[in-house]
Amino acid sequence: CDPSALARSLLAWYDRAGRALPWRKKGNERPDPYHVWLSEVMLQQTTVAAVTPYFLRFIERWPTIAQLAAAPTDDVMHAWAGLGYYARARNLHACAKMVAQWRGGQFPDDEEALRKLPGVGDYTAAAITAIAFGKRAVVVDGNVERVMARLFAVTEHLPAAKGRLKALAAHLTPDMRPGDYAQAVMDLGATICSPRNPACGICPWMNECQGRRQGIEAQLPAKLAK
Ligand code: ADE
Repeated sequence: CDPSALARSLLAWYDRAGRALPWRKKGNERPDPYHVWLSEVMLQQTTVAAVTPYFLRFIERWPTIAQLAAAPTDDVMHAWAGLGYYARARNLHACAKMVAQWRGGQFPDDEEALRKLPGVGDYTAAAITAIAFGKRAVVVDGNVERVMARLFAVTEHLPAAKGRLKALAAHLTPDMRPGDYAQAVMDLGATICSPRNPACGICPWMNECQGRRQGIEAQLPAKLAK
């Protein structure tokens, strides 16, 4: 199937059914890079439902990255308590200080520079590039891997299949609206193409999905037995 047709149908679905989340903007408005970075760091290994109240508390208490950078580390750690993976909070504060002190509070807008910041790996750098700056970047998390494995019926198991799934994700990533596209695939994975009992009947990619055609969608992505 034509990749741009797939991107178009997904974006149409996202405009209709995408989740309204506090770090997202409507239409052509660009979100604040500080908000995008904060939400993406919080969303690593944590659900949208758990993250939302923390995100809102952080931006109310520290409306700018300079204010977050100036906060005592203990305050940041306390505000993070309950989200888990506390290395993320330490890296978050270190990153805020670096951006505030060395970059005048402005995040870099390319993946390579972003990856040099504490706590910013491949996923987060790509997400910030696409969502905050509207530049094409291939955003791959566990949701995206699952959606790609099913759409293209990739039966190779994880983690061996990671490279192939990333190449498929790159093949589909459009130049237009890359931030919306990235969030649309993640929303699809979180709400419709869920690990168990995917809701294929309401999926915008139902007719293109090779996994469904073969009746193997629920078994994908295959994982190496633990
Ligand atoms: N998971 C991680 N980042 C996300 C985002 N921006 N939208 C939806 N799900 C996500």
